[in-house]
Amino acid sequence: MKRDQKFFDMYSLVIGVLAFVALAIFVLSMKMSELTQSVYTAGTDEYLEAVAERLQPFGQVYLPGDTIPADEPQVAAAPSATPVAAALSGPQVYNEACVVCHGNGVGGAPMLADTANWQPRLSQGRETLNSHAINGYQGAAGYMPPKGGRLDLSDDAIRSAIDYMVSQIP
Ligand code: HEC
Repeated sequence: MKRDQKFFDMYSLVIGVLAFVALAIFVLSMKMSELTQSVYTAGTDEYLEAVAERLQPFGQVYLPGDTIPADEPQVAAAPSATPVAAALSGPQVYNEACVVCHGNGVGGAPMLADTANWQPRLSQGRETLNSHAINGYQGAAGYMPPKGGRLDLSDDAIRSAIDYMVSQIP
């Protein structure tokens, strides 16, 4: 009977100490969370603002026209590209696209400044020459490909090349 009593006393003491430790940890953690976690009282405007800020999507974009605050990196407008070389001149087009055939009569092409060859062609009229050169045509002497195969050239570029070729006929 005496031993039971002693065990009971001891047991109560241990339980008591454990309960006290648990309570102490609880109080301590409450105190700690107060110090470290909640800066604002839940529900106040300050608190809601802080939450809204934390919920914002990552990264924001300034669109053209937005005023960018001075402390943000300022974005310089991209310089607008200057157009590449103006339209090619007649001789330039000729030397780039036509000289391969018309330079030495490849495939029956009328050579530059070959009056005898050009005279009957000229008498067809400039419109016909233009459309033959721009659209291509099969003649008696050979095949003239549309724009000399340079479909990237404008119709005007081809016309100015013909101007040049015609001007070279003595
Ligand atoms: C692949 C060779 C070739 C190239 C490149 C070429 N030509 Fe010709 N061209 C010919 C041939 C061949 C003829 C003659 C066809 C015929 O009369 O039978 C001709 C004829 C012409 C004629 C005369 C058309 C007519 O009605 O008699 C003109 C104008 C002409 N070419 C302009 C040009 C111009 C401008 C270029 C460059 C943009 C060019 N050609 C590039 C082969 C070429």
